[in-house]
Amino acid sequence: MHRYELEAFFTQIAAYAAKRRLGDKDRKHRPNASYADMLERMRLPLSNDGMPVLEMLSRLTQQAEPGLGAMTGPRFFGWVIGGSNPVGVAADWLTSVWGQNVANHLASPAAAAAEEVSGKALLDLMELPRESSVGFVTGATMASFTCLAAARSEVLLCVGWDIETKGIFGAPPITIVLGEEAHSTIFAGLKYLGFGDANIVKVAVDGNGAMYAAAFAEAMEKATGPIIAIAQAGHINSGAFDPFTDIARIAKAKGAWLHIDGAFGLWARATPTHRHLGEGADLADSWSVDGHKWLQTPYDCAYAIVRHREAHARAMRIPASYLPGAGDGARNPSDYVPELSRRARGFATWAMIAHLGRKGIADMITRHCALARRFAQRLGAEPGVEILNDVVLNQLAVAFGDDRQTQATIARVQQDGVCFVGGAQWRGRQIMRISVCNENTTEADVDISAEAMLKAWAAVRSA
Ligand SMILES: Cc1ncc(COP(=O)(O)O)c(C=O)c1O
Repeated sequence: MHRYELEAFFTQIAAYAAKRRLGDKDRKHRPNASYADMLERMRLPLSNDGMPVLEMLSRLTQQAEPGLGAMTGPRFFGWVIGGSNPVGVAADWLTSVWGQNVANHLASPAAAAAEEVSGKALLDLMELPRESSVGFVTGATMASFTCLAAARSEVLLCVGWDIETKGIFGAPPITIVLGEEAHSTIFAGLKYLGFGDANIVKVAVDGNGAMYAAAFAEAMEKATGPIIAIAQAGHINSGAFDPFTDIARIAKAKGAWLHIDGAFGLWARATPTHRHLGEGADLADSWSVDGHKWLQTPYDCAYAIVRHREAHARAMRIPASYLPGAGDGARNPSDYVPELSRRARGFATWAMIAHLGRKGIADMITRHCALARRFAQRLGAEPGVEILNDVVLNQLAVAFGDDRQTQATIARVQQDGVCFVGGAQWRGRQIMRISVCNENTTEADVDISAEAMLKAWAAVRSA
């Protein structure tokens, strides 16, 4: 690319990015085009000669725009999606500009060091054991997979089975003990590792989806052989936390490995206001947590944190004669994740922690939880609207009349586009799930959104 063309190209992208983000607040919180429309619009001109970069850029933005979800908008409450903060986006751009492959410390000392120091800061922020190793992965799904691979390796080694040399076939059976409302991605991770329903014991949970400590104790009492126990910090529908102190004590007494899925909830430990919810979580052996949720980094970014560094590396390391080892105290990033080549996620994490600081992170999480309670007050005051969960964190499960009416209300809200929410089935009921997880969401955004939801509900009720 010619120098002037390169300058114009990058300048134009930066100008576009600023304009796009400045418009987040006023844009409809829904895509304007359907998937079928977008397949048509995104048709790829597979020409012989290609096209000039500026033309390509303008085509890509124009063609994609109508089908973009408003995930960076302040009234996006679907799933649990952080706002891809511009600071993290900029650091991610730099990562691509620098073109860093973070597989090993020799190829990119800066990228490897950014991961190491950011990892240490994460342990500090969430008050987890400082000796833990941190792998930078795509999402909490892969983080749990990675942690559970380390768990599998360690619990088998403890009974004399070296899975790295002997493999899984013929290994002593492992019992998995988890809450019956564990997140679906935990079951995915277990499936990738060779576990099926027959290996899993599900423990009863309370009305908010948190495991009963007594039921966990009973399940553990009956379990034999190597055990992996899995608990949860932040239930996807209710935000509930399992009773970690009791669970960890029981797990330890049985010699079990305890993993905690804390995709968003583990961040509660970084706040003075909600730290108590995650009390005892530091007693576990491994943790999965997302950066792209409550740290607001862009997708994809999550952390597989393991107390036992050697088990973590044993499960993940990819030895090859052409790759530098991790000697002299240097950490090879690929020793702690399933991939060799990947983007250097440490820079965006470094940037977000540096930008927000300890107080900025804590204040944002505290504010989101207060906004969730504000939603509950506004919606719960309306006849026919039920808040089904105890709003302990940033998640709400709301019913508008019966299941059919709740579905119809969600559809109307989505169509209206003032805000975005999704639905789910929980405890035999259709719910609207609201997640407050965008740094830019204000009280006014909650009020406008609650009004839009109640307007949709009124229309459904009178239909
Ligand atoms: C509790 C919990 N675990 C795991 C996940 C999966 O996270 P990811 O989509 O980042 O893989 C989520 C996503 O919302 C979650 O809420």
